[in-house]
Amino acid sequence: METKVIRVDPRKPEPPLIEEAARVIKAGGLVAFPTETVYGLGADGLNPKAVKRIFEVKGRPLDNPLIFHVSSPGEALALAEEVPEEAQWLMDRFWPGPLTLVLRKKSHVPDVATAGLATVAVRMPDCPIALALIEASHTPIVAPSANLSGKPSPTKPQHVIADLQGKVEVIIDGGDTPIGVESTVVDLTRRPFTILRPGGLSREALEEVVGPVGVHQGAVHPDGLAPPSPGMKYRHYAPQAQVVLVEGERGERLRKMAELVGQLKEEGLKVGALTVGVSIPGSDVERRVQGLEDYAHNLFAFLREMDELDVDVIVAEGVEERRLGLALMNRLRKAATRVVRV
Ligand code: TXA
Ligand code: MG
Repeated sequence: METKVIRVDPRKPEPPLIEEAARVIKAGGLVAFPTETVYGLGADGLNPKAVKRIFEVKGRPLDNPLIFHVSSPGEALALAEEVPEEAQWLMDRFWPGPLTLVLRKKSHVPDVATAGLATVAVRMPDCPIALALIEASHTPIVAPSANLSGKPSPTKPQHVIADLQGKVEVIIDGGDTPIGVESTVVDLTRRPFTILRPGGLSREALEEVVGPVGVHQGAVHPDGLAPPSPGMKYRHYAPQAQVVLVEGERGERLRKMAELVGQLKEEGLKVGALTVGVSIPGSDVERRVQGLEDYAHNLFAFLREMDELDVDVIVAEGVEERRLGLALMNRLRKAATRVVRV
């Protein structure tokens, strides 16, 4: 299949270009598009055939449900029932933005999109291109991250092109995605409300609006426990390279990282280091981030880059699980082949 890559202005999306992509959605085709978190692979959420193709193209297991992207709270409410009043407070405060709400679904929502669950996940992205595309398509757009299943989520148009060229009708190139990790998925069908997947909106921010919110254990320690959200049982965000994640008190973990880099080098391996603020001597490839936002913005791109540079092992610095740190540690643990705690 011929894939058309369309460059669109991320601030002022050109209406004729959006119309062209919307026609593809309406005809049951697939369009990859940017959001403020990561790129999504979109289809008409109310067209089961189109939705099914998303799973085929990504190589995604059919038991992993999709998020419905809407351009207004009203559109989300049209897909859900028995909606608690707090849902409205959260939409008022955080939409558009990196927050996905899990609600009881209405019966017309196709089962293939929700993997047969009684719930539906909805979110309104904070991205002019995404919003314009949803509006012009006159339908909610289901969109998983626009990577092949198991690969790091795409935060740059070239990541989407690398994974999906020749497999989808249209890829919208709208530049880099600002946040860089996916949305926070919160289940509003149980009390206390529970974060199923930590993401771009922090638990602390949610709690300011609705009070104490739980975090599913599986979201903190992705290995071991029963998955809360079907998508969480698969190994995700994994580059080809091995990832050694080092957790613990700052000074200790940096010392440990330096030691590990030295050992791995001695074994003749090509070693990459991913650190916050400081540099670890001795690695072959070094990537430094300045704080949590920068870490989130760059993590997936760095993982892909390390593969392009044929790095064998990435030694990555863990962070404290506060604010964006919770989402970062979730992604890092899922990418890790080994976790070292000091
Ligand atoms: O930021 C994002 O959320 C991105 C952009 C494109 O919007 N999308 C994204 O989609 O990350 P995906 O499919 O890669 O991840 C969706 C997550 C999965 O963990 C899935 O299991 C969960 O949301 N999910 C979807 N529907 C659900 C439901 N009804 N109940 C529980 N979890 C659900
Ligand atoms: Mg994904």
